[in-house]
Amino acid sequence: MNRSKRNRHALATLFPAQIAGLALLCTSLGLAGAQSLTGRWAASGRTLDNGEQEKVILELTQTGDQVTGSLHTFGGSFDVKGTAKGAHFELFGPFNPNRPFITGDLVNNELHATQGRRTWVGHAATAADELPKVPYIEPPPLHKVPSNGLAKTPPMGWNSWNLFAGKVDDATVRTMADAMVSSGMRDAGYIYVNIDDTWQGVRDAQGVLQPNHKFPDMKALADYVHSKGLKLGIYSGPGPRTCANYPGSYGHEEQDAKTYAAWGIDYLKYDWCSAGNIYKDDALQPVYQKMGEALQSTGRPIIYSLCEYGRGSVEKWGPDVGGNLWRTTGDIRDAWESMMGNIEKQVPTAPYAGPGHWNDPDMLEIGNGHMTDDEYRTHMSLWALTASPLLAGNDIRSMSDATRAILMNKEVIAIDQDSLGKQASPEKNGDLETWAKPLADGGAAVGVVNLGSAPASATIRAADLHLPATVKKARDLWSHKDVQFTGGAYTATVPSHGVLMLRVAAK
Ligand code: GLA
Repeated sequence: MNRSKRNRHALATLFPAQIAGLALLCTSLGLAGAQSLTGRWAASGRTLDNGEQEKVILELTQTGDQVTGSLHTFGGSFDVKGTAKGAHFELFGPFNPNRPFITGDLVNNELHATQGRRTWVGHAATAADELPKVPYIEPPPLHKVPSNGLAKTPPMGWNSWNLFAGKVDDATVRTMADAMVSSGMRDAGYIYVNIDDTWQGVRDAQGVLQPNHKFPDMKALADYVHSKGLKLGIYSGPGPRTCANYPGSYGHEEQDAKTYAAWGIDYLKYDWCSAGNIYKDDALQPVYQKMGEALQSTGRPIIYSLCEYGRGSVEKWGPDVGGNLWRTTGDIRDAWESMMGNIEKQVPTAPYAGPGHWNDPDMLEIGNGHMTDDEYRTHMSLWALTASPLLAGNDIRSMSDATRAILMNKEVIAIDQDSLGKQASPEKNGDLETWAKPLADGGAAVGVVNLGSAPASATIRAADLHLPATVKKARDLWSHKDVQFTGGAYTATVPSHGVLMLRVAAK
């Protein structure tokens, strides 16, 4: 993962990226000197769905043109340093020494700051501007968590984030569960209905996390989802705060795992986010181990999905913490470059995929409207060839015929779900990229993707699939027609950004 991506995630807890427009309190009664940044500055953000108001406190000392200090949020604290020239200042965090993460000007005793795409105004903090202190919790000693025996094939389902982000609620999840059944998605194998970030309320006096007003009765929701023959997933993280700034499981791992089990949760996505304000990457494994154990000690079968954007060579230790899948990339966007970028980042992890433990290049964007149908067919094919989890991220309630045909292509799903669990790797030849995946029946699946801007002729050779030249049967998995190999090869035209995908059986 590149530095800016890491930076974005670690800082996401200051003010969540998905929230536009801050309601800001400001005052001109600042205590800091008119020409100095020295002081304690506070800015308030939006009110979360659990009633809490976001806040940043910046403690700064200016000496000449040098500025040092610390930044405090719900998600923990970290040191900052930078420079001031006249009224203008630039502050760097510990994540990216090359790019300031806050720039701004001191105007009439107010900090007028720009942080990423957001602007905010800080006022001189008063005694009321406090944030709870986040104590450091030592990660546990490492040991192996046994496999939970789940996810023998890559998990399939739907997740709320790509489409709804912070707008997911109980009613949406219920209608989505209904649509999973009526659309045929459930019968095609999509079983998990996963609530992502922003469901969390606040902890009660015993520390038990309650859902917020959008999810009045999580147990009843789980019962409803189960009554449809589906399973329910939820989201948290090992830090004090999730990426959308809601309470994380930091210091409450066992308690939260028990809560999920009591509700009837079947899947947990566990997102690093603000844990990066507290721990370095060498703590990833023990910190993830803690929740892996907590889930297993509930006795309920719960799929464990690690979301750490590919940090810390997760593919090497993911199974040891009881993980069933782990992210190999940053967040996908509904764009060709993002989708192809994610699948390319997944390539070095190929040897580590297998039954029970999968590399995850993030959820599907198929049907969200910003790629062509050819590009979405390539998206589906590549996720299947790489044995990636298939978690739809679109509106299942209103799918076009093309989206249905792509997401519910049972022949392509069968490649993803093949019991051998091998992850294809690409071979490049000009604009063509060939991904071949050995299958449990001794045959192979193969996809040729055309990265170019014009249609191209692609030839698939049985020898390249490590199959004997005499091919018993070959089938085009998008046209749903058998095709003939001649002289050990098959040639067809592939549209720009499209894919030719075959299943080939040897004699
Ligand atoms: C991170 C994850 C996303 C999503 C959001 C929720 O960015 O990578 O998949 O879960 O957090 O805040």
